[in-house]
Amino acid sequence: MGDNVIYSMKNITKKFPGVTALDSVSMDIQRGEILAIVGENGAGKSTLMNILSGSYESTEGTLEYNGKTVDHMDPIMAQKMGIAMIHQELSLSNALSIAENIFLGRLPKNAWGMINTQKMYEDSRALLKEVGLEHIDPRTLVRDINVSQQQQVEIAKALSLDAKLLILDEPTSSLTPKEADILHEIMFQLQKKGITMLYISHKLDEIIKISNRIAVFRDGQLITILQTEATKIDDMVSAMVGREYAGGFARDNYKTEYSEDDVVLEVENLCVGNKVKNVSFKLYRGELLGIAGLVGSGRSEILQAVFGADKRQSGTIKIKGKTVPMNYTTEAIANKMALVPEGRKLQSLFLKFSVEQNISIVFLKKALNKLRLNLGKKERVIAENYVDKLKIKTPGIEQKIVNLSGGNQQKAVIARWLVDRPDILFLDEPTQGIDVGAKNEIYDIISELSKEGTSIIMVSSEMQENINLCDRIITLYEGSVTGEIMHKEFSEEGLMSYMSQAKEA
Ligand SMILES: Nc1ncnc2c1ncn2[C@@H]1O[C@H](COP(=O)(O)OP(=O)(O)OP(=O)(O)O)[C@@H](O)[C@H]1O
Ligand SMILES: [Mg+2]
Repeated sequence: MGDNVIYSMKNITKKFPGVTALDSVSMDIQRGEILAIVGENGAGKSTLMNILSGSYESTEGTLEYNGKTVDHMDPIMAQKMGIAMIHQELSLSNALSIAENIFLGRLPKNAWGMINTQKMYEDSRALLKEVGLEHIDPRTLVRDINVSQQQQVEIAKALSLDAKLLILDEPTSSLTPKEADILHEIMFQLQKKGITMLYISHKLDEIIKISNRIAVFRDGQLITILQTEATKIDDMVSAMVGREYAGGFARDNYKTEYSEDDVVLEVENLCVGNKVKNVSFKLYRGELLGIAGLVGSGRSEILQAVFGADKRQSGTIKIKGKTVPMNYTTEAIANKMALVPEGRKLQSLFLKFSVEQNISIVFLKKALNKLRLNLGKKERVIAENYVDKLKIKTPGIEQKIVNLSGGNQQKAVIARWLVDRPDILFLDEPTQGIDVGAKNEIYDIISELSKEGTSIIMVSSEMQENINLCDRIITLYEGSVTGEIMHKEFSEEGLMSYMSQAKEA
């Protein structure tokens, strides 16, 4: 093995009960490269990263790091070897300062054994500079910086541990395009310093932009390694899904006729903290309405507040012409409304449950209200139906959600609400972390629902998703509505311009 290989895997297999997550994977990671890892939800990407960083042990196979066989791996070993993994769910302590987080567990001490805060701040400043955060004071609490900055702090922490191999598992799934650009710039700088990086993402344009090579996984197997410069997105997708990829998505029934008799939801003068300012809109029967805006523009807050999950300062909410107090989510559910929150936020709530329980939880609530407890069989049929329809990759519906891959957890959450067939459905980032193929399956289901008369509001950071799916879009800028655009007038530039500036007076 040449010096140019930092980490080498031979025949790595990982079996979980009922699942072969990795099937005899052999691959060399070149020193100093950015190697992208792509594949459909459940292909085995995160599992492999967890093995490389010592969180999981492989069932079979061998690892060689810098030419030496690794007999045993655990997270502490990995840290000593210079391997750092930035997980999707960031692991910083909110209540501690940036500097304390970076040096957690190894605070610098002076000759008397006292913590040398002076040195800790100095070192932190130098590290923050390396990740583009020189303008931030290391004494700032982590809870006071945004997600993108928290991620940069995680990278600073990895650098302080002298990481040589940095693993990033879907780091940009909750970043704005601008923030993602900043992260990519930092990655290029790290690469110049000789740091090797493994990068997982479902955003394929990013992969083309930043990687040197692309390893494609399918069903636990390494299918091929592509040289990025000779690769087009379509080639990558075909390798991922194992067939020709049909490409984009369009509905066949955009709504063009609007009648005031069809208004199912009317929101007037909604204010939520300082995030949502006097927002009014109507939602029509069978309509797919998009609320578009930059991250932080108040999109999710509108959904949460109308659903009774967040407190609002003012605003009237009418359902089919009748004012509803809507102070609790139970009122929303009683009015046949459903909300699929942004995936990552919700996950922690449901991780304890099995796939079956998750899918049928709304159903169950209803059943319990009627004091009929023995619905086991019916639930099971519904759950199985959705596992099928959404192609949720699981050995069975008894599997715990926590054991599913990130994207499949998200699908289970969507299925969970569909069971109850809501009249009004709110979807917040419905395809975050979902692979290209499965996205189309979710689009199909969404458009199917609207055909059947369900009225839907969707919030998505993917412009193409908004354009392909929505009948109408209202745009937000810093909590205020700046525009309303019908499907036939959609254009990426037009929407962007409404989303990025205040309305002219
Ligand atoms: N702890 C576990 N117990 C049981 N099965 C697991 C466990 N971790 C992962 N799996 C299974 O292994 C397979 C691969 O999962 P993995 O998380 O590696 O997928 P992934 O490629 O990262 O997908 P995604 O893009 O959705 O994040 C999946 O079928 C998953 O359900
Ligand atoms: Mg994953």
